[in-house]
Formats: sequence, C-alpha cells, structure tokens
Amino acid sequence: MSSLEGVASEINSFTINNEKDAEEFRIKFIGSKGLIKGLYLELKNISPDQKKKFGQQVNGLKLLAEEKYNCAKERLIKTGSNISKVDLTKPGIDESVGSRHPLSIVRNEIIDIFTKIGFSVSEGPEIEDEWHNFSALNFPPEHPARDMQDTFFIEKGEQEIALRTHTSSVQVRVMENSKPPIRTISPGRVYRNEAISARAHCFFHQVEGLYIDKNVSFADLKQTLLYFAKELFGEKAQIRLRPSYFPFTEPSAEVDVSCSICNGKGCNVCKYTGWLEILGCGMVDPTVLESCGIDSHEYSGFAFGMGIERISQLKYKVNDLRMYSENDIRFLKQFTSNI
Ligand code: DAH
Repeated sequence: MSSLEGVASEINSFTINNEKDAEEFRIKFIGSKGLIKGLYLELKNISPDQKKKFGQQVNGLKLLAEEKYNCAKERLIKTGSNISKVDLTKPGIDESVGSRHPLSIVRNEIIDIFTKIGFSVSEGPEIEDEWHNFSALNFPPEHPARDMQDTFFIEKGEQEIALRTHTSSVQVRVMENSKPPIRTISPGRVYRNEAISARAHCFFHQVEGLYIDKNVSFADLKQTLLYFAKELFGEKAQIRLRPSYFPFTEPSAEVDVSCSICNGKGCNVCKYTGWLEILGCGMVDPTVLESCGIDSHEYSGFAFGMGIERISQLKYKVNDLRMYSENDIRFLKQFTSNI
C-alpha cells in the first residue's frame, strides 16, 4: 500500500531528462496501472468520514503528476531533445496567401497607367445627392436622360438622395473643390436598379477621368485614350470613336478598342466586328463647367468613364458578371498580379 506522502515525494524527486524518463514517469504515476490509480483503488478501504478528504488529496496528486509530465514534455520539445522525431525531409506546410480580386487588379492597372501621365486619384461618396449625380451634370429634373440610369433612390422629395449611378458625380465634386488645371481619375462602385443576370448587376465599378485646363482639345482626348488602350491591351491596340450622347459632354463619343482576341479579324467575342466597346467620353459641356464654378470661356476639358468589369471581362474572358461577387475560391484563385 502506497501512502499519500510517499507518492508525493516520489513525484517530486523524479527527474525527467529525456523522452525515456518521461515515459517511465507516465507509466509509474499516471498510467492505468500506476501509483495514483492504486491510491484511487484504496478509497474503498477508507472509513466513510475520511473518504472525501482522501479523494481530494489523490486528485491533487494526480494534477501534480500530470502537470509535471506536461511541462517536461513541452520543455523537451522546445529544447530540441526531441530532435530525432522531427523529419527534416518532409515537405513544408503549405501556407496559402490568397490573391487580389480581378477587379482590384484591373483597377490598379488603370490607375497605374493614368498616374504615369500625371493624373491624380480622387474619390467621392457612394450615397449621393441628386445635384452631384444628375443636375450639375446637365440632367435637368424630369429629363428622359435620367432614365438611362435606373436609380436606387434612398430619399425622394426636395433634395433627393440616391446610390450614385456613375462615378461622373466625382467630376462635379472635384471641379467644385479645386481650381484648374485638373487632371484626375476617380475609381469607385456604382449602383443601378437592374435585374441581376450574366450581363447586368445592381452594382458594378467604374473609373472616371477628367482633364480641365486652358486649350484642352478633342485631339488631347483621342491621344490620351489611344495611349491608355495601348498600355492596357498592348502596342497593337487601336481605337475608334463613334458619335454618341451624354448630357454632360458635347461632343460625346463611344470608344471601341480593336479586339485583342482576334486582332481585329472578327470572332465571337467581338461579334465579328473586330471592335469592342470600352468607354464613353467627350468634351465637358460648358454648362457643366459653369455649374461647378469654372469659367467656360477660359477653360475647356475632356471626360471619360469606363466600367472595370467590362475591361476585366475582355482581359480575362470572364463571361458572367455574377462571378465577380460570388466569392467562389475556384474563380478567385486564378488571378495573379504583381500590383
Ligand atoms: N457616366 C457615364 C455612364 O455611366 C459614362 C461616361 C460617359 C462618363 C461619358 C464620362 C463621359 O465622363 O464623358 O454611362
């Protein structure tokens, strides 16, 4: 029969220097045939009035032994006494680091291209008043052009509040708050009340461009966009401008880039036209300049706006817009970039 004191002093005096000692300790004290188990078995011979106290003391011994064993094991691992157990020939543990979202990659590329020629980056709110989203951009109230952008209104009434339908609202904010020369691009998220499908979504992303200075001409606009297309799609890229209508630019144009998939020969991506539409642009309407406090006799400028999803779709051949926001890892992990 082992006494409580005897077992306690044996636990305390046992030295654990290596794995073998640790295993011996475990078998002697904690194991299923160990001394502590023996003490528990003695419980049945103890008088009822002593039972509780004895049981508590054995529990205490059990804790003491387990703690000593666990500390020793931890120390052995830390000090490397266990080195023989580490297999250095095993492959390392795979740490996946994630990757950028394709829309972030394309947005960063666009920013890079324009900052190289002196454009700054500006941002504005996604919850916008109707002045910045419409009126200042020459969309009068009740004008049918407002219907081109199906809007999520938050508050109707005297001062309407809505989710911005385009990043053109940031043009207005920049012109109101700074003096020309202005050369800026504004990337951001925009919202439209569209049924979600492969080709339309209720939110998407745009990059707006604005250049205001003395003597800015349509030729500057064309050259800037050609530079942009070549940087983004390669040296062979060409652009063509088709007349169009936007309330805030006059003249306005829609810009196509030569199809980089078939090099302009015609394929199913460009619907056998050889061209892909990428953005809208034009010379800032003098009414817009004046609404934003800029003298339209002294200054002129151009603006453009493009959809990031659209450009990303052309670069990566993503044919369903919904994939951008479904967070499917199988889709997301295909994109790599160094920006
Ligand atoms: N805001 C327009 C849209 O969302 C795109 C656009 C067209 C922006 C012409 C411009 C521009 O700055 O000049 O449909």
